[in-house]
Amino acid sequence: MLTRRTFLQTTGGAAALAAFADGGVDRILAAGRRVDGAAAADVAADESYWREIQQAFTLDRTIINLNNGGCCPSPRVVHEALKRYLDVSNQAPVYHMWQILEPNIESVRRRLAAAFGCDPEELAITRNASEALQIAQLGLDLKAGDEIVTTNQDYGRMLDTWEQRVRRDGVKLVKVSFPVPPKSMEDLSAPLLAAITPRTKVLHFCHITNLTGQIFPVKSLCDEARRRGIKTIVDGAHAFAHFPYTASELGCDYYGTSLHKWLLAPIGTGFLYVRRENIPALWPLTPAGASRAKDIRKFEEIGTHPAANHNAIAEALTFHEGITIERKSARLRYLRDRWAKRLGGQPRFRIHTNLDPAHSCAIGNVQIVGVPTARLVPRLWERWRIIATPIVHPEYEGVRVTPNVYTTLDEIDTFAGAMEDVAGGRIKVE
Ligand SMILES: Cc1ncc(COP(=O)(O)O)c(C=O)c1O
Repeated sequence: MLTRRTFLQTTGGAAALAAFADGGVDRILAAGRRVDGAAAADVAADESYWREIQQAFTLDRTIINLNNGGCCPSPRVVHEALKRYLDVSNQAPVYHMWQILEPNIESVRRRLAAAFGCDPEELAITRNASEALQIAQLGLDLKAGDEIVTTNQDYGRMLDTWEQRVRRDGVKLVKVSFPVPPKSMEDLSAPLLAAITPRTKVLHFCHITNLTGQIFPVKSLCDEARRRGIKTIVDGAHAFAHFPYTASELGCDYYGTSLHKWLLAPIGTGFLYVRRENIPALWPLTPAGASRAKDIRKFEEIGTHPAANHNAIAEALTFHEGITIERKSARLRYLRDRWAKRLGGQPRFRIHTNLDPAHSCAIGNVQIVGVPTARLVPRLWERWRIIATPIVHPEYEGVRVTPNVYTTLDEIDTFAGAMEDVAGGRIKVE
């Protein structure tokens, strides 16, 4: 357990004292001590504990933000660290940023690697998941006719990236469909494995999809791909710091994630994991000298950039660890279940997310049958100031709902009530 003293030792001096002075991490740690030993499922329903977490953010509570799948607000302590590092940098950036702050990226690498469960020498810090994944997608040597197997629910930008390789290099992209919601993990793995041919070189899929929040059976897919000599790129944009897992439970070759989503780190942060044996053969997006071929840092050669963003990841890790991933994921499922089980029991609603904890966590997708989602979502905003995400896929449509640790029960209930008002015809969607 992180104590005030160890926290001060790890973050150092005046900066850390500032974080305590405003009641930031201090209150989180005190709240954590109060529930220590209690089951995460019980803490999930302990409103006095979550009140402390809610208070750690500087939010606009006149709106109900149920789109935490895009990017998230950072807690106050993280945002203050970001601003502090920017101020320090701006004194003489060539000295304060390059000499003082930038080398500390190594502490961030070490702590992220510990949280993800890999060697720090396998983890590159990037600006987002797109950059991380594109390093893998564009850095692999592939030739015309080589095949990439993915799904038709993978992230648009990542599919666009492959489509560019189709146009540029003549590779073939195979996109499989899978049932929504699936009844079993087999429903997810079978279509991907069935699409593999002797020409398949890469299997690319989401750890958890952004459309319905579906969690994939990563380990079994990666193990099977490895057995067949196929590289695996896993899109973990939504997974890291969302629910518990470690790299060894995934077994993939390349993994890219955002840190401005579930870790609540500053906007413009992510990481790329590259299994050690794959580092030398993977080309960086922004070239590095040949002498760095085996160094994971070759993927960070992006030119001048702020050190503040990536260094403040350390503060986000401290905040996250103060809650613990077990409590966080249990709370997120508790919030998701509160609206999904209420609406899912009524005939006008169709839940597109399998609510089994093995299949999903915070993210859920719900449709009001007969109400166009593309018009419903703007109505939720106009009438209730609720931010949600319209998902319109050729095979289904629905509202994506993504709460976060700062979301209150009242906000969830307002959303559920709004959906019932629309479904019941009390509020019209034109
Ligand atoms: C599944 C998935 N992959 C990749 C990304 C891209 O993440 P970023 O915006 O951090 O580049 C997202 C963003 O929402 C996503 O949902």
